Amino acid sequence: MPAIVLVGAQWGDEGKGKATDALGAQLDYVVKFNGGNNAGHTVVVGGETYALHLLPSGILTPGCTPVIGNGVVVDLAVLFEEIDGLTARGVDCSALRVSANAHVIAPYHRVVDKVTERFLGKRRIGTTGRGIGPAYADKINRVGVRIQDVFDEGILRQKVEGALDQKNHLLAKVYNRRAIGVDEIVDELLGYVDRLRPMVCDTGIELVRGLDEGKTVLFEAGQATMLDVDHGTYPFVTSSSATAAGACTGSGVPPNRIDTVIAVVKAYTTRVGEGPFPTELHDEDGQRLRQQGAEFGTTTGRPRRCGWYDAPIARYAARVNGVTDFVLTKLDVLTGWDRIPVCVAYDVDGVRHDEIPMTQSDFHHATPVYEHLDGWSEDISGCRTLEELPKAAQRYVQALEDVSGARISAVGVGPSRDDLIVLHDMV
Ligand code: IMP
Repeated sequence: MPAIVLVGAQWGDEGKGKATDALGAQLDYVVKFNGGNNAGHTVVVGGETYALHLLPSGILTPGCTPVIGNGVVVDLAVLFEEIDGLTARGVDCSALRVSANAHVIAPYHRVVDKVTERFLGKRRIGTTGRGIGPAYADKINRVGVRIQDVFDEGILRQKVEGALDQKNHLLAKVYNRRAIGVDEIVDELLGYVDRLRPMVCDTGIELVRGLDEGKTVLFEAGQATMLDVDHGTYPFVTSSSATAAGACTGSGVPPNRIDTVIAVVKAYTTRVGEGPFPTELHDEDGQRLRQQGAEFGTTTGRPRRCGWYDAPIARYAARVNGVTDFVLTKLDVLTGWDRIPVCVAYDVDGVRHDEIPMTQSDFHHATPVYEHLDGWSEDISGCRTLEELPKAAQRYVQALEDVSGARISAVGVGPSRDDLIVLHDMV
C-alpha cells in the first residue's frame, strides 16, 4: 500500500514526525502538498536536532526524494536558507524536487500579511506573518507568480507588475506604507534561477510514475484539519487545504491512488493564533499542560493555547479525512493528573451537540461536556506495549479510541523517536 497521507487532526503541532517514525516504512518520496514556511517541525536524527519550516522531513532520510508539490507556496529566500543550513551540517539536499507550478511567496506577501493583521486589530487571525495568506490570495486571484515564471524574465516582470499594481495602491493609500518597486522584486527572484533550475520538474508525473513502479509515497500535510481553509474554523484558519483531499490537488496524484490516511492527534488539544477552542483552559491545568508538553511554537515561539482532548474534533477529522489510523501523541504529558477530563460533546445554549455545530457562532460559545477518567502517576516513557502502561493509561487510550471514530494504531509516550507503542501495522 504505497500512498499514505499524513494529516493533523486538531489545530496543528500534533507531532507528525512521530507518525513518520511509527510507519517504520522505507519511504521513497515524502511530499509536502500545502502551506509554506508557516509550518515547523523539529526532527531529531542521530542525536542532531533539525528545525524545518519549508523542506519536507524526507530531506533528512538518505535514499528518500523530498518533493515540494504544486499546492505549496515557496519563499525562495527561506528555501535556500534552509538548504544552506542543512548542507553546512552535512545533509545532502540534491535530491529535492520542486514543482514548476508551486507559487512563490514574494517579499510583498510578507509585507501585506503583517500590515493586514495589524489593521485587523482585535479581529486579527494571528497568522505566522510569513506571507502565506496573501500568496494564496494572489493564486486564487490569478495574479500569482509561479516557480516556472522565474525562468522567463519577460513573463516574470509582467506578473510581478500585475501583482504589485493593486497592492501598491493599497500599501501607499490605505496602509500608509512605501510602494514596492517591480525591479527590486524581479532582481531578487532572478538571483535564484541558477540554483533553482536543477530541482524544478513536473512533480505530478514523477510521483505517479513512482507509484506505478511500486514506490512508497508519504504525503505530509502542513498545519491541520481545523486550520484547513474549507473545513477548519474559518476565518481562523490557514489559507490552504490541510486535509487529506489536499494531498491530491496539491500534488497532482489522483484520489484513487491513496491507500491509507493517518491522522495524528495529541492526547490533549493545543492551538496557536486566534479562533474558537471549546476545551481551552485558562487556569493552572492549562499552564501545566503548556509546561509539561513544551507547547511553544516552532516557527514563531508563541506559547500555545492548551486544553483537554476534544472527541467531536477527532470524529470530525476522522470523517473529513477518511482516517484509517490515528497516531495518538504525547500521552506522557498527561502523567500526574488525578482525573483527566475528556470532552465527548458540546453544550450550546442548553442543547447537546455530539458533532461540531453547523455555524461558527454556535461553535464560539460551545461549552464542553466532559467525562472524567482516572489519571496515572507512573513514568510511561519506557513502555513499549499497551499492557506495560498503567491500567488507567490503557483505559484512557481505549476511551479515546471509542469516541474518536477510527482505531488508534500507535501511541507516543515520550519525546524521542523510540518512545512509541505500535498497536497495528499501518502500511
Ligand atoms: P498563516 O498560516 O500564517 O496564515 O496563519 C493562519 C493560522 O494558522 C494562524 O492561527 C496560525 O497560528 C496557524 N498556523 C499556521 N501554521 C501553523 C502550524 O504549523 N501549526 C499550528 N498553527 C499554525
